[in-house]
Amino acid sequence: MSITVIPRHPALGAEVRGIDMRRLMDAATRQAVVDAWTQHLVLVFPGQVITDQEHVAFTRHFGEPEIFHQTSLNLRSDRVREIFLVSNVDENDRLMTPNEPSQKQLSSSRQWHTDSSYRPMPSVGSLLHGIEISRTGGITQFINMYKVYEGLPESLRRQVEGRRARHDFGMLHRITGAPPPTRAEQAAMPAVWHPMVRRHPVSGRKSLYISSIYNDAIEGLDEKASTRLVEELSDFAAQPQYMYRHVWEPHDVLMWDNRCTVHAVTPHDPAERRVMHRTTIVGSEPVVAG
Ligand code: OGA
Ligand code: MN
Repeated sequence: MSITVIPRHPALGAEVRGIDMRRLMDAATRQAVVDAWTQHLVLVFPGQVITDQEHVAFTRHFGEPEIFHQTSLNLRSDRVREIFLVSNVDENDRLMTPNEPSQKQLSSSRQWHTDSSYRPMPSVGSLLHGIEISRTGGITQFINMYKVYEGLPESLRRQVEGRRARHDFGMLHRITGAPPPTRAEQAAMPAVWHPMVRRHPVSGRKSLYISSIYNDAIEGLDEKASTRLVEELSDFAAQPQYMYRHVWEPHDVLMWDNRCTVHAVTPHDPAERRVMHRTTIVGSEPVVAG
């Protein structure tokens, strides 16, 4: 297979043609995809009519798929345990309402974040398959955090340089009203501290590393000041010149780098079905300060 890469935005995001996820990739094609990913941070693979098993098999070209640790809200698929359900329809095909626990927790993804940053070795990247897409919203927005770091005004840069932020999975219930993690889930996923400026293990470049839905503390700041700084940084990051907004077509698969991007989805009409399946590539190393 040979691939064609077409940028979708000057900051990040590129469409990749010439991949059929139902087939295994050869080593040269895999490397071409990795190179495009390193350069564009978010890859769009249109027209991938794949099963969950094929989704997982494609993910394995890039690392080990994560098994979501929380089982209480049925966000992890019962059928294929590597699949995380970013959907408002359950596995019995029932449309859920926004005030059901899983939907409350998922609503956190409307705020800027990067997946699984609450792990000691956070995720490398995620692959999201749009099975039933929204036409009333549900646009997934991505930010290039290398460019954000490079563009930070001096006053903000001084506040993140050499500093660490805490990431806690338990934040989700505090900000969304979803049920708190069970004691076992809490014990399995204690809060972790990561540098706010990180060096990417492949590109060697520095980026701002924040995750507003999980950050509950910053070294040397009280709670209010921590919240304010994460908000200020997120507001600065969310500028059009740093952002690719993905308007979904059915069977797009997006593959993004969780180490140097953040993402957030726009709201949509809850009466409209939206079915998206995600795999998450487990982290291969701790976050290294930049
Ligand atoms: C995710 C997420 C994006 C979306 O899948 O990690 O944050 O478009 N959701 O729902
Ligand atoms: Mn996410």
